[in-house]
Amino acid sequence: MRIAVVGGTGKEGSAMALRWARAGHSVFIGSRDEIRAQATAAELGSQIQRSIQGGSNQQAVAASEVAVLSVPYPAHASTLGALKDALTGRVLIDITVPLKPPKVTCVSLPAGHSAALEAQAILGPATPVVAALHHVSAVHLRDLDHAIDCDVLACSDDKAALEVALPLIRELGVRAFDAGPLCNAVAIESLTPVLLYLNRSLKGKSVGIRITGA
Ligand SMILES: NC(=O)c1ccc[n+]([C@@H]2O[C@H](COP(=O)([O-])OP(=O)(O)OC[C@H]3O[C@@H](n4cnc5c(N)ncnc54)[C@H](OP(=O)(O)O)[C@@H]3O)[C@@H](O)[C@H]2O)c1
Repeated sequence: MRIAVVGGTGKEGSAMALRWARAGHSVFIGSRDEIRAQATAAELGSQIQRSIQGGSNQQAVAASEVAVLSVPYPAHASTLGALKDALTGRVLIDITVPLKPPKVTCVSLPAGHSAALEAQAILGPATPVVAALHHVSAVHLRDLDHAIDCDVLACSDDKAALEVALPLIRELGVRAFDAGPLCNAVAIESLTPVLLYLNRSLKGKSVGIRITGA
């Protein structure tokens, strides 16, 4: 699969890029800065002896079948607005958690109820949005030897998009579940501040979630 990681120079994006490239996918890291993306792509590629491409976010999306949005919430709407035309016909996996620093351990939902619902409203039906991966630690993803102790809840209003996204997400080394329509992103995105609270109260641990009885 040809995967674009918008914001792929960052913590979560670079870690996903690494794992997907290791799994044999064609990965294109996007950035606001082509040179930074190329440097990140070269560094990650050398780590696993695979070729990873780097360039602008536009170039990454244009080369992709599936795009992953991995930028902080304050950059969410503007990044999507700039990429709207390029994203037409692609599946977008949106991992954004609408955090409001410094109160990142407190649920703070945006005006559109969730980042993913806002993404779908910006992009329209030509780009189905799948919300996922809000609870998986970048540190754990980046460590290729780490067995990730966290399940992924993915939701979308487009079942065909989920059928594309779920197998890809599982190739990161996690179990992933269809968690229903995109309105459920409100609950899924809301859980991350709770996990961040637990990380602090458990003194630096990096907790995840498990679905039991499945
Ligand atoms: N970190 C985690 O453990 C984790 C876990 C689950 C979900 N998430 C979610 O994943 C997303 C990315 O998290 P992260 O920790 O990887 O973030 P990050 O490292 O702080 O940023 C990711 C990338 O976003 C781009 N970016 C930053 N500010 C921007 C702006 N104002 N406009 C456009 N692009 C901007 C940057 O790329 P360029 O400067 O190269 O353009 C940056 O490398 C967030 O929405 C977060 O809630 C994170």
